[in-house]
Amino acid sequence: MTDEHEITPWNVSDTFQEAQYERVATEFGAKIIDEPLKYEIKELAGDLHRFIQYGIFFAHRDLDLLLDGYRKGRKFYLYTGRGPSGKMHLGHLIPFIFTKWLQERFNVDLVIQITDDEKFIFRDSSREDLDRFTRENIVDILSLGFKPEKTHVLIDTKNSGLLYNYGIQVAKHITASTVKSVFGLKDSDNIGKFFFTSIQSVPAFIVSAITGHNVPCLIPYAIDQDPHFKISRDILPKLGYDKPASIISKFIPSLKGTGKMSSSDENSGIYLDDENRTIKKKLMKYAFSGGRDTMEEQRKFGANPDVDFAFNTYRMLEPDVATASKIYNEYKSGQILSGEMKMIAYEKIVDFFEALNSRRDSVSKNMEDYMFSPDRFL
Ligand code: TRP
Repeated sequence: MTDEHEITPWNVSDTFQEAQYERVATEFGAKIIDEPLKYEIKELAGDLHRFIQYGIFFAHRDLDLLLDGYRKGRKFYLYTGRGPSGKMHLGHLIPFIFTKWLQERFNVDLVIQITDDEKFIFRDSSREDLDRFTRENIVDILSLGFKPEKTHVLIDTKNSGLLYNYGIQVAKHITASTVKSVFGLKDSDNIGKFFFTSIQSVPAFIVSAITGHNVPCLIPYAIDQDPHFKISRDILPKLGYDKPASIISKFIPSLKGTGKMSSSDENSGIYLDDENRTIKKKLMKYAFSGGRDTMEEQRKFGANPDVDFAFNTYRMLEPDVATASKIYNEYKSGQILSGEMKMIAYEKIVDFFEALNSRRDSVSKNMEDYMFSPDRFL
């Protein structure tokens, strides 16, 4: 049995471990991405993204049905999001890297919800800070190279009219006791927390609502967001919309080891605005290593790359799976030492950041082109 509320969008218990992902996903009612489904994705997308090969995106809800429809000519749209509670680190971008791949391979629209309202309700952030992080986070995300024509950034407080009108339809079907049991909320929690999940549901049917016909929706998210979409899937059919499908990821391990990368500890992750020397220092000093204590032992016994922050970060950013697997073997067998592994990761990260930075100016200047507007769907 899952401990009660082991994983909710606002809390992940410290005892949560890698080995528990599959159990938790299955208990939530999601399915594991199995070989036939991988084959299907590969057929339709042209290849299988490395994050699926590595088991980072590992579970789903109705992805098989959605792809069946796609095969028959039924286009879907993608929906994902970000709560702008602070600066972004590398781990935050991982789902967006994957989403961009999906968007390109399936040539579909993408709605990105920025839940500044959520972070106002759940955190101590001021509206000023949230506005700043909202803008900065959007630039960070879009600098991955999203195409403006098919990308729709929906900032909650800026689209409040639309979200409220659709949100109340969802809210009408959710009881306080459901919210309490699904999210672990208490009577003493503010009432904004109770309402918020309705707002996170809206983008899962917003394209259908605007266009007047059902457009299937696929939502990539980390497993802690699953409770929201479990609720959406119960309610949307009552409003005449399809249940959204989902593709679900594990958490990206923090610099210091497993568990969710926390946004409150500066040394828990590599921030997108970290200078090169800070990145190097964080890797050298804080990054959890799967290597041995001494060079002799490392040469003799090799490392455990699976738990190694530097290796995992490198692997996520290396598009060539064969190259990454060569590094894996060399690190595991002791040919590569921990410090060397950290330098390999360092170079990958610096290259990745340079590519992001090269797009920032043009993204900032053209931000308006990416913003959500109903008439872009009509
Ligand atoms: N609640 C999410 C967060 O705190 C943001 C979010 C909104 C989201 N809609 C989403 C994430 C859809 C994934 C998919 O980060």
